[in-house]
This record gives sequence, structure tokens and C-alpha cells, in this order.
Amino acid sequence: MKNVVVVGAQWGDEGKGKVVDILAPHFDIVARYQGGHNAGHTVRIGDRKFILRLIPSGILHEECRCVIGNGVVVDPRAFNSELQELREAGVECEGRLFVSSRAHLILPYHVSLDRAREERLGANSVGTTMRGIGPAYEDKASRVGIRAGDLNYPDLLREKIRTNIAEKNVELASMGAEQLALETTLDEFLVEALRLKPFIRDTAVMINTATREGKAVLVEGAQGTMLDVDHGTYPFVTSSNATAGGSSTGLGLAPKKITGALGIAKAYTTRVGGGPFPTELLDEHGAYLQKRGNEYGAVTGRPRRTGWFDATVVRYAVMLNGFDALALTKLDVLDEFEEIKISTGYNCGGELLDTIPYGANVLAECAPVYETLPGWRSTTSRITGFDDLPPAAKDYIQRVEELCGAPVALISTGPDRAETIIRDGSPVSDWMK
Ligand code: GDP
Ligand code: IMO
Ligand code: MG
Repeated sequence: MKNVVVVGAQWGDEGKGKVVDILAPHFDIVARYQGGHNAGHTVRIGDRKFILRLIPSGILHEECRCVIGNGVVVDPRAFNSELQELREAGVECEGRLFVSSRAHLILPYHVSLDRAREERLGANSVGTTMRGIGPAYEDKASRVGIRAGDLNYPDLLREKIRTNIAEKNVELASMGAEQLALETTLDEFLVEALRLKPFIRDTAVMINTATREGKAVLVEGAQGTMLDVDHGTYPFVTSSNATAGGSSTGLGLAPKKITGALGIAKAYTTRVGGGPFPTELLDEHGAYLQKRGNEYGAVTGRPRRTGWFDATVVRYAVMLNGFDALALTKLDVLDEFEEIKISTGYNCGGELLDTIPYGANVLAECAPVYETLPGWRSTTSRITGFDDLPPAAKDYIQRVEELCGAPVALISTGPDRAETIIRDGSPVSDWMK
């Protein structure tokens, strides 16, 4: 049995799309288990660039089946437009892309509420992607959500949506936000949503049947460990369980069937939106990382905040997700630094911490404790063998392994598929057999 989950080890945008694209040919199914089109997973193939938001990155491999699991929240309009973009790029999804009947749908009122809540928070806003993700998960937990399978019962569905719109309008009005026109909102939504119908399946049965037949599943996480609603920097988080545990509930795949976990970490750190970020660099080094790393959100185009590698964050992620190995991405972005810093822990009001403290307010007061390593000042981009890396780069990777407590099995030195080092005898090389 080979079912591997790929999870972001930091605050998202670690390069999950690229790594999933590399692993996908060695798996039969690629499945998303949480999040929605707040994700933006970039895959570069030669001079072609794809940004997958909702559809698993495995879709670019013809032989892969792709699943949007029950734990994902699906905006039908976003789904249809992504499908269309893929079709225009020559990628056909029909017959190999499936959406769980239990996946909750994002409705227009979720988007309105997301925006209204963020505006009300003002300077304390989360900095969401404004895609309606949080409000959709709220409705799921409140048991008033609309699920993909409801599309098979149009009369019941219309009634539920009418009731919801009326209630959400009261809430929107109380925040001074614009209300939604009942019938036009409903009609426009249904036109988009009904196009989902041919893709809807009981994907838990599909995945479990496949694994029983010996097929392998690659599970594609979105966001990252520090954005997990339980384990992240709450309330500056997304509204789902991005950590590996979410893959079990989000797909209906039993925990014991998940045989491996790979953490994706950037060789430095980035974060989009609000919330604490102890190693953030607001100086010229931060600006350099942003420019050289092209750190702009794949979904919203917002500039990403940048900083040094925070080993406490990744060590915490190794613990929470049980990573067998790490993939260290964007090493090339550090190529020109004379010195590179790694934060090994925090100084929190005189107390030294080696783990993430409770509370975003506490983490915001933590000063990183740095260790300085020499840079390598040479190009790593076209290197494909670990032994060919400059000695200082190997030392940097070794220090990351020691501090985080997991082996670095894959090193990415550029956005392209070819710009990748896979270490012999590592979990990643085993999964690629
Ligand atoms: P994801 O959300 O985790 O899939 O990551 P994103 O796609 O949002 O962000 C990662 C960005 O870095 C994308 O633009 C990738 O093309 C790019 N990228 C991935 N790996 C590397 C790398 O090793 N080096 C460089 N320079 N860019 C990379
Ligand atoms: P991928 O999968 C980085 C962030 C938002 C915001 C917070 C909550 O590409 O790594 P939400 O819209 O989810 O309610 O916003 O989470 N966020 C991400 N940051 N990468 C992502 O996805 C993200 N998805 C959400 O910026 O801070
Ligand atoms: Mg992204």
C-alpha cells in the first residue's frame, strides 16, 4: 500500500504544486482533502505555467485520476472557470476528475460575509483571500451548509438556499453590508452549480475501492501547518485542518491507510495576510527575498511577507504531521547571500522557547534566536545531484535536518520540474519507484 500525504510545513506557498507534479506520475489518484480556491499551486513545465486552485495538481498528468474530497469547499464558479482554463490548455478533465457528493459548496453569501467580516475587523483583519472559505466552513459546522450531492434534489436545494439567503441578509445588514437579491442570486448560482453534477461521486468509496485494488493515492494538502485552524497561529489561520490528520477525515481514508507524509518547506519563510511571523525581515534582505523569490500570491497577487528559515515552525510541523521527510524548496533564492540565518528558537520576554507558544499575541512578542551560517555564493539551479551542491549549501541542508528532526529528501532549486534533487535511498525515492 502506498498512500502519501503532502503538507505545507510553514504558512503555505512552500511549493506543494511543484512537488505534487513531480510525484504524481508514480500514483494513480491525486486528491485534495481541505481548503478551496484560496489555494494557488503553481506548476511550471518548460515555458508553460499552470496555477491550480481547486483542482488537484495531478490533473496535468493524463493517467492520473483526481479527486476533490469531502473536506474541500467548492465554489462552482471557480470550479467551472478552472475547468475551462485547463480545457483551453489542452487538459481534459471529464471522466478523470471527481467531486465528493459530501463536499460543501461556497455560495455568493459566503463571499459577501467574508468581505464584511474582514472590513469590520479593520486593522486586526485576518487578511483572507476573500473567497468565502471561512463562512462556508462555518455553515458546514452549523449544519446549514449546501453540499454537492444536494444538487440531485433541486426542490429541496432551492428551499434551503432561500432560507439561507434570508438569514445571511439579516447578518449582512447588521454589518452594514449590501444584501443579496434572493431570486437572481439563487438562479445565477444554480446555473453554475448544476454544471458540477457530472463530476459528483461518493469519492470515499472510490478511493477505498482503488486502494483495495492496490492503487496508490497522493494526497495534496493546501495552505500549511501554521494556517491549520487547530494548530496554526489562530485566529490568523484558514478554516480547515491543513495538517496531515485532515487528510483522513477530508477524504474518508482511514488513518492506518496513510503510509507516508512529506512536508514541504521553503529554504526561508513567507506568509501572506496578517498574523505573527517571528523571523520576518522588514529590511533589504526581506525585500531581496521577495524579489528574487518572486514572492507574490498566486491567487491574489498580494506581496508575500518574507523572512529567514524558522526551524521552530518546521520542527513543530514535523511533530504534528509525522513527516517521514522534508522537501526543501527555493534553495536557489539563497544563492547570493554572504551569510544566511536560521532561527533555532525564540526569546520570549527573557524565556527561551524551542516550540510554538500558545496564542498569536505571545508569538508576536517572540524574538527569534539566530544561528548564522556561511552562504555559498554560487548557482544551485541546474544541479541535480546532492553531491554536486556547494559544501556550504550541503551544510545548510544538514543543519535544517538536525534542527527540524527530519531528513531532507528532495531539494528544489528552481520552479521547473528538472530543477530538482531527489536523494537516493530517501522516502521520496522509494515513493517514486
Ligand atoms: P504552493 O501553494 O505550495 O503550491 O506554492 P505556490 O505555487 O503558491 O508558490 C511557490 C512559487 O515558487 C511558485 O511560483 C513556483 O513556481 C515557485 N517555485 C517552486 N519551487 C521553486 C524553487 O525551487 N525555486 C524557485 N526559484 N521557485 C520555485
Ligand atoms: P496554498 O495552498 C498561503 C491565508 C490567507 C489568510 C489566511 C486565511 O497556495 O499554500 P482564507 O481565505 O483561507 O480564509 O485566509 O490564510 N491563506 C494562504 N496563504 N497559501 C495559501 O494556499 C493560502 N490559503 C489561505 O492569506 O492569511
Ligand atoms: Mg500557493
